[in-house]
Amino acid sequence: MQFHVTPSALTDATVTVPGDKSVSHRALMLGSIAEGRTNISGFLAGEDCLATLAALQSMGVSIEQSDATEIMIDGVGLRGLMMPDGPLDLGNSGTAMRLMAGLLCGQGFDSVLTGDKSLTSRPMRRIITPLSTMGARIDSNDGMPPLTIRGKSELHGVDYEMPVASAQVKSAVLLAGLYADGETSVVEPAVTRDHTERMLGSMGVAVNTSGNRISLEGGQALTGCSVQVPADLSSAAFIILAALIADNAEVLIENVGVNPTRTGVIDILRGMGADISLEQPRLLGQEPVANIRVRSSDLQGGPVDPSLVSLAIDEFPVLFVAAAAATGKTTFSGIGELRVKESDRIAAMAAGLRALGIEVEESPDGAVVRGGQFSGGVVESHGDHRIAMSLAVAGAIAQEPVSVRDVAAVDTSFPGFCDCLAALNIDINVSTNQVA
Ligand code: S3P
Repeated sequence: MQFHVTPSALTDATVTVPGDKSVSHRALMLGSIAEGRTNISGFLAGEDCLATLAALQSMGVSIEQSDATEIMIDGVGLRGLMMPDGPLDLGNSGTAMRLMAGLLCGQGFDSVLTGDKSLTSRPMRRIITPLSTMGARIDSNDGMPPLTIRGKSELHGVDYEMPVASAQVKSAVLLAGLYADGETSVVEPAVTRDHTERMLGSMGVAVNTSGNRISLEGGQALTGCSVQVPADLSSAAFIILAALIADNAEVLIENVGVNPTRTGVIDILRGMGADISLEQPRLLGQEPVANIRVRSSDLQGGPVDPSLVSLAIDEFPVLFVAAAAATGKTTFSGIGELRVKESDRIAAMAAGLRALGIEVEESPDGAVVRGGQFSGGVVESHGDHRIAMSLAVAGAIAQEPVSVRDVAAVDTSFPGFCDCLAALNIDINVSTNQVA
């Protein structure tokens, strides 16, 4: 599948984007091991979360999807999951695999976690190491999936200092900690998204956060609750980008999650001169949300503060396009983690932008992007949803049409992406023919 984007003049619009992927995964997993019912509204019916949903159903959890975004779970309690019939296929989703590994290593049965080509080449030692220290027994393919998790392991609390800032690792250890004796603590080298801690709190688990140390006592029961999923800021970021780099547009995106552990993208863009305001800030359960108003802005390049990286970890493809549309040079540093996402995002964005006539220099953990004019042409997404969507947005202000190849993965996180761009008057089509 390809996107074909024709340079377009944006119109002012009010849009919504689908539910938050991280919150949707956690609502499914925590709701499944809770006691009683969990109702989820605003669920992201994207392929990643649907893989998590199917995996939990195959372990005996009753999950009903009355509407694409409405889910009802009858939780089975901490010890109620049942052995699945076969391997659990988690598709493209690193979050599903890493969090599920934490959840499954304390169960009374063996399980196998696998996924697609991208997921089976992603590093899993980052979870295998701490979980093994807790007593888990996990076999892997030289540190990569498939993971075989041996059941009936006795887990013990740990005090784990994470070498990488990763909410997935933190969450895996905390979920295993629910099944461990004593206290489990993780210390993060930089703040990462805290949806697991917030949702555990909503379900009655006492989680202690003190500075960068997060701790919980094992054996605490979860109680089902209502989860209202905010719209995903990581998806809103493509719309924010489109509005910013347009000639003259004003776009309002409603009901977006603005948890401070996620808003690095707004801070970085504002530092470049972006006119972004958060209106009607409020809480949806434990999660802060707001309406985001964006006006087209003259962006200015500069050094991007590396201390914001973990707060904007999924938005660098968007930020690379913003840098390319800005005046001057933007320097990204401390972004080595991007090389082990759904694709090597530094290499993929550098190649994509160069194909559109932008100068990019790469380093192992950074890049320098010189602002310029997008020419037009054919670019590769490398099967990565966020690369595909970022390059598609660049097409809206290119001199010639842009075709983005291999875009099927967009459905993992942003079903309805093309309709949402069309609401801004961006001329985008999808075709299944190969571009020559
Ligand atoms: C996620 C955490 C991030 C992010 C991913 C979702 C999560 O990964 O890139 O898309 O839901 O916990 P890391 O925590 O491994 O950086």
